[in-house]
Amino acid sequence: MDIVLSGIRSTGQLHLGNYFGSLRNFVKMQHDARCFFFIADYHSLTTHPDPKMLHGNVKNVLTEYLAAGLDPEVATIYVQSDVPQIAELSLLLSMHAYVGELERTASFKEKIRKHPDNINAGLLNYPVLMAADILIHRATRVPVGKDQEQHLEMTRRFARRFNQMYGVEYFPESMPYNFGQELVKIPGLDGSGKMGKSEGNGLFLVDSDEVIRKKVMRAVTDAGPTEPNTPMSEPIANLFTILKAVSSPDTVQYFTDKYNACEIRYGDLKKQLAEDIIKVVAPIREKIDAIKADDKYLHEVVGDGGRRARESASRTLADVREIMGIKPF
Ligand code: TRP
Repeated sequence: MDIVLSGIRSTGQLHLGNYFGSLRNFVKMQHDARCFFFIADYHSLTTHPDPKMLHGNVKNVLTEYLAAGLDPEVATIYVQSDVPQIAELSLLLSMHAYVGELERTASFKEKIRKHPDNINAGLLNYPVLMAADILIHRATRVPVGKDQEQHLEMTRRFARRFNQMYGVEYFPESMPYNFGQELVKIPGLDGSGKMGKSEGNGLFLVDSDEVIRKKVMRAVTDAGPTEPNTPMSEPIANLFTILKAVSSPDTVQYFTDKYNACEIRYGDLKKQLAEDIIKVVAPIREKIDAIKADDKYLHEVVGDGGRRARESASRTLADVREIMGIKPF
């Protein structure tokens, strides 16, 4: 059986893109494999979040994961910093990671470009820490988006290098987990590109019905088709992509026909879209509110998840120490 691991940085709130892009698939996946889901709070420290905010951010993501349907009885859900074995494995793996290859990582180069005032060693080591996250459970599959593919490739390289160096077949080749057909990429409401936290174009799982309606009504459109069967401009195609994710096939067909006949009224499309988004988001939001108020439950979830994650992590770390020649007296 596959061992699947998924991590998310504890920055900000989850949006509809996270839901359709991963969360919804995770809910199914948790029954088909041995799953670990964790919140990468060590990783989020590279950008120096306000210490007063960090815990709240972790709590938000944890709460939203649970509200979306991740089941702590089925999957192991934990906070990265509750498993210090990850930090030790990262240290050990870093001995075989070359500064040159770390400097050439696309995400690192981008950080240098965007934040030349904060090029810290944690950023350089980011792929090593991520490899440690994955290899600490010897995960065979990792669901990642495009932006994380290179990191996963580096994980495989570090694993292979370790195995070769010590003449063992210890770490697996961690491969991407592919959702195939079920993967829906949700675009933003600003006409181009994908929905993101920082882009200001997101619909969040905590948004109220009113906020959702406002955001959708403000979404970018165009002047409307003037000839039958005009190909859709990007902003319109984006609205239809979201519609396909949240609405019934009949609704999608109805508006597609209207568009093709040049009879579409974007106001009507947006109204319908907002209501159908609300049907997806409102039940999750209600669960978020309930879970967020239940500190005892959250304490139990991470307590139990952390214990199980540490068990798995300690086994790996004991093996790695032995393989590298660290022995108790
Ligand atoms: N780097 C990932 C991101 O920014 C988060 C992450 C950290 C992760 N460790 C991981 C993802 C391990 C998968 C596996 O999205």
